[in-house]
Amino acid sequence: MTEYLLSQQDAAELERARLELLQEKHDPLTIRQLDAIGVADGWRCLDVGAGGGSVTRMLAERVGPAGRVLALDIDTNLLDRLASDHVEVRRHDLLTDGLGPETFDLVHARLLLMHLPARLQALERLMSAVRPGGWFAAIDPDFTTVDVVPRTPAWERTWSSFLDALIAGGWDPRYGARLCDDLLAVGAGDVQADYLAHREPGGSLTSRLLSLTLERLRPRMLPLGASDQEIDAARSLLEDSASRVRTVTTCAVRARKPA
Ligand SMILES: C[S@@+](CC[C@H](N)C(=O)[O-])C[C@H]1O[C@@H](n2cnc3c(N)ncnc32)[C@H](O)[C@@H]1O
Repeated sequence: MTEYLLSQQDAAELERARLELLQEKHDPLTIRQLDAIGVADGWRCLDVGAGGGSVTRMLAERVGPAGRVLALDIDTNLLDRLASDHVEVRRHDLLTDGLGPETFDLVHARLLLMHLPARLQALERLMSAVRPGGWFAAIDPDFTTVDVVPRTPAWERTWSSFLDALIAGGWDPRYGARLCDDLLAVGAGDVQADYLAHREPGGSLTSRLLSLTLERLRPRMLPLGASDQEIDAARSLLEDSASRVRTVTTCAVRARKPA
């Protein structure tokens, strides 16, 4: 299996809490994407890197018993309970396991591609699973827009170690901003994107999610020059309502495979 930096195996409780926050933040945007695409009764959908399963669940409700949802992840721990007559859950590593000949009306991958070292090939693989005329939808972040006021040396050093740790782990911290270009490169058409960022007080859902992500990456940041005290101080800043945070930019993208 490909190494995943935020594996549930390493910190089950913390990662479960992070996945819950992540779903709370992104589900409203995903609902807008699925509405815009028009996912409906009888559709066949693939949800890759399905994680905590909130999108798999939404898709299953929309496609109904006449449809089908295939949910794939390297860790199906939180997904297995969703299996039913029309929902299949499968342990699958997108980087090493073939997807097979089946094609789908919608292929969905939220907060997955940025983690994958060979992400263009992964995207090609996902697009090949879309039926001609069908849809691909993804959300990926751009972490490089984050800024926190007051700007302290502890924050600056922690943030720089965080970005270094992401890159050292094979992530692209700016992948959201690049996703449209990659979709065009793999032959997708009708590429549409919404970019969302806010300036808000610390302690917001987005800042708490970022704070938990810093915590998960702590063991990777320490060897890159961050200290425990600085990471604690940076997390406190993110969670303090007196701080002002310019958030991660969330990039929600949809595209079609030419018919
Ligand atoms: C940040 S979580 C997002 C979960 C879900 N898509 C969501 O947005 O709520 C990323 C998920 O991708 C899965 N993942 C990471 N690498 C993968 C790979 N190579 N193949 C399949 N799934 C992978 C992880 O196990 C994790 O569940």
